[in-house]
Parts: sequence; C-alpha cells; structure tokens
Amino acid sequence: MIAIDGPSGTGKSTVSRRVAAALHAGYLDTGAMYRIVALEVLRAGLDPADQPAVADLLPRLDFDSPTDPEDQRQVSAGVDVTQEIRSQAVTFAVTPVSANPAVRSWLLDRQRRLARSGRMVVEGRDIGTVIVPEAALKIYLTADEGERARRRHRQNRAAGTTDAGDVGSVALDLARRDRMDSSRVHAPLQAAADAVLVDSSGLQIDETVTRVLELAAERG
Ligand code: C5P
Repeated sequence: MIAIDGPSGTGKSTVSRRVAAALHAGYLDTGAMYRIVALEVLRAGLDPADQPAVADLLPRLDFDSPTDPEDQRQVSAGVDVTQEIRSQAVTFAVTPVSANPAVRSWLLDRQRRLARSGRMVVEGRDIGTVIVPEAALKIYLTADEGERARRRHRQNRAAGTTDAGDVGSVALDLARRDRMDSSRVHAPLQAAADAVLVDSSGLQIDETVTRVLELAAERG
C-alpha cells in the first residue's frame, strides 16, 4: 500500500496513476469520491454547508469507485460524471462537503475497504494520517504555489473543462482549498510524521514517478 497525500495541483493524480500502473497495482482517487458527493449535493439542490441535510443524502448515493489506473471513469447513479466532477461549481462545493464529519466517516469505510483490497496506490489528503496509517510507504507530494496553479490550469484545459478560468483564478482557488483543507477540524491535510516529502517543483512528471518508484523499491 502506497499512500500519496498533498495539496492540489502537485501532479498527485498523474503521478499516483503512473506509479500504480508501473507496479501493476490498483489506484484509488479519494478526491473523486468527495467530488461525487459534492456533485450529488448540488444536484439535490442542497446547501453544501448544511451538514445535517448533506448527511441525510448519503444513504441515497449510488456509486462505485474505479481502481484500474488505466480506466478512471467515474459513474454516479448510472451516469458518467468524470468531466462534471471537475467543474468549477463542484470544485467550490467540495470544500465544505469534505469538512462534514458525516461525509468523512461515510467515505472512510469504503476507502479503507478498497485500500486494503490488494496492492494499491491511494491518493488524497488524509491517507497516510487517517485512512491507512499502516501504509508501507507514505509520500507527501508538494510543489511551489505558482507551479501548482500553472499545472492545474493546463490540466483543466487539457481535460476540456469549459470553465477552466485563468491561471490567476486557479491560483486563488488552490490557495483557498489548501487553506480550508489544512485548517479543518476533521482529518486536515498534513504530512504524516513518517511520510517522505517529495517536492515536485522543477521536476517533470516522469522524474517524480521515478523518485516514488525508487522509494517503493527501497521499502520492499
Ligand atoms: O484531489 P482533489 O483536488 O480532487 O480533491 C478534491 C477535494 O476533496 C479536496 O480539496 C479536499 O477538500 C477533499 N479531499 C479530502 N480528503 C481526501 C481527498 C480529497 O478532504 N482524502
């Protein structure tokens, strides 16, 4: 089990997926799970900050999370939502939704079950600290702020997101989410004490992947 945590826009998803593929392991994107909950909250017309109303919605949700690194189509209630969960509206709503303790504990069971279902690379914010603290290798992936904003903006455009915004607005959004993810009471974004810090600033994706694979080989 490899846990990969860190703030938004570090290349975490791409790196995690490639590491999983190279190791013939599964891959779990826990951020996508929070995004699906946020999308369904918006679809139900709920206020993402209304914690009891969002908690009541949880038993009605119907989605499975893909673990194939080569096929990350996200489906909720039978509809492909892969693109929609990356929209600006969902990206905005996911912060209050992920600070809701009922949402976190509801997702925790699924995440643990999937994380322990075989050889897995699991990516998120609290994987090494809360979800799988026994992970053989914990990576905390960072990059400097400007580079993270440029990467996320490029990624949004490549994904065909219609409301990708400019680099400045992406930078503001990343700063907002990091601040809220790091300061929330339940499972805040933080490096586990035994995590290996990998700074991807100035590294190509391939170089970061190689670094993580070296660490994985060292840890057996
Ligand atoms: O990784 P991604 O940017 O898609 O995650 C979306 C949001 O989901 C994060 O900003 C964070 O609020 C939340 N999240 C979380 N814990 C995780 C993964 C994501 O709180 N393990």
